Amino acid sequence: MVEESAERKVYFKTFGCQMNEYDTGKMHAQLLRDGWAVTTDPADAQLIVVNTCSIREKAVDKMHSALGEYRRMKREGQDVVIGIAGCVAQERGDELYKKYRDVDLVFGPDGVPQIGKLVAEARQGRRVLDTEFLDLENYPFIQDIDPSAHGVGSFVTIQKGCDNKCTFCIVPYTRGVEVSRPHQEILEEVRGLVARGVREITLIGQNVNSYGLKVDGELTFAQLLYAVAEVPGVDRIRYTTSHPRDMGDDVVQAYRDLPNLTSHLHLPVQSGSNKVLRRMKRYYTRERYMRVVDALREARPDIALSTDFIVGFNDEFEEDFEATMSLLNEVGFVGSFSFKYSPRPGTPALKIRNPVTPEEASRRLTVLQDRQRELSTDFNRSHEGRVVEVLVEGPSRHDEGVICGRTSSNVMVNFPGDASLIGSMVDVRVTRGFTHSCRGERVV
Ligand code: SAH
Ligand code: SF4
Ligand code: F3S
Repeated sequence: MVEESAERKVYFKTFGCQMNEYDTGKMHAQLLRDGWAVTTDPADAQLIVVNTCSIREKAVDKMHSALGEYRRMKREGQDVVIGIAGCVAQERGDELYKKYRDVDLVFGPDGVPQIGKLVAEARQGRRVLDTEFLDLENYPFIQDIDPSAHGVGSFVTIQKGCDNKCTFCIVPYTRGVEVSRPHQEILEEVRGLVARGVREITLIGQNVNSYGLKVDGELTFAQLLYAVAEVPGVDRIRYTTSHPRDMGDDVVQAYRDLPNLTSHLHLPVQSGSNKVLRRMKRYYTRERYMRVVDALREARPDIALSTDFIVGFNDEFEEDFEATMSLLNEVGFVGSFSFKYSPRPGTPALKIRNPVTPEEASRRLTVLQDRQRELSTDFNRSHEGRVVEVLVEGPSRHDEGVICGRTSSNVMVNFPGDASLIGSMVDVRVTRGFTHSCRGERVV
């Protein structure tokens, strides 16, 4: 049992997507109320929470190595409660609980709203395992604002879970069924964030386009965009993730109507082959995807598109991979996250024998990523000589006296300037484009 002290400190280690980052912020907010402060040094903490991701096996490996380190610290005498949260905890809670006797607390994403109670129990010396999904009626989305959300941009969750069953994906099993957060709560959080100086809101969910559809009287996703756009002080709105099947004309229309909706969309396609898309149960074809792209470009000619790809999925033959490469070129994605297919426990695709060897999958990934780097560099270079509007986010990570921010189309621009500009919108002339960012000079 850990002694009460005036200065109780919690250390968070967060893996995975925006959902987990956001959840960590919500845990932080709740623990703050109970008198906890956050530390950036695990050796200084009385509570360590590892917020885990199980999207690919590599993410799970990362959890094990982080955990190994914290458990060693505990073995060597640190008086600390160790908790495993997030998607691996949800998926393999039992196993982790049994395997790691020195871990005090294991809880899934639905444990986030109850973190205070769970931690209190664990600190009384009781080991806790909580992987029950909460009641869907009245799902308790946490309204407390993440205390560290004072930057320029912030996430706001609009739904939890996912009702799709893409055959490769573990998320429906780790996050449960889809629940839309009431729009009043979303708008209240947006207003709260704006009051703290946040200027860019990113709405997050696993399939934001299906927001509200299953709730009588709730706004649709497009209507939600208009409502958020109207909140005074919201200069930019982004959202992620969109599912191409559910991308409606009303959302496309929003790109005509809402100047603060940014000129960038992340629209995961996964594959350019209709056969593979069918096996993934994505429920769209390449042709449908291209129609969405064309409609978006008609509505917002400068829209920059990025995506996710999986290579080496079950029965992805060379010709299927080539279809993915041709789609990459046809759309001209400005960026993409690409992954080798990683079989996940409990998913439908696991049962199928995959003839693609790991070596072949690695080769395909390299080919794809090389081409993507070229496209990203071309895109960034196309800005050279142009003046762009940058929302300044903070100091550059690499250079003293240099600050950075992004354009509406999500291009990262570094330029000389001082911290007083953070949070403002400035005009910058781009002098050089690189693979991941641009360099520029402020125009005054
Ligand atoms: N909800 C989002 C994706 C969430 S997961 C959507 O539908 O697009 C983020 C990305 O991880 C996915 O787009 C996919 O490209 C990748 N991914 C998911 N499961 C995977 C797996 N088993 N192996 C490799 N990549 C995977
Ligand atoms: Fe996974 Fe598909 Fe849901 Fe995205 S839409 S989270 S890929 S099941
Ligand atoms: Fe990972 Fe869970 Fe997000 S599996 S990608 S942290 S929803």
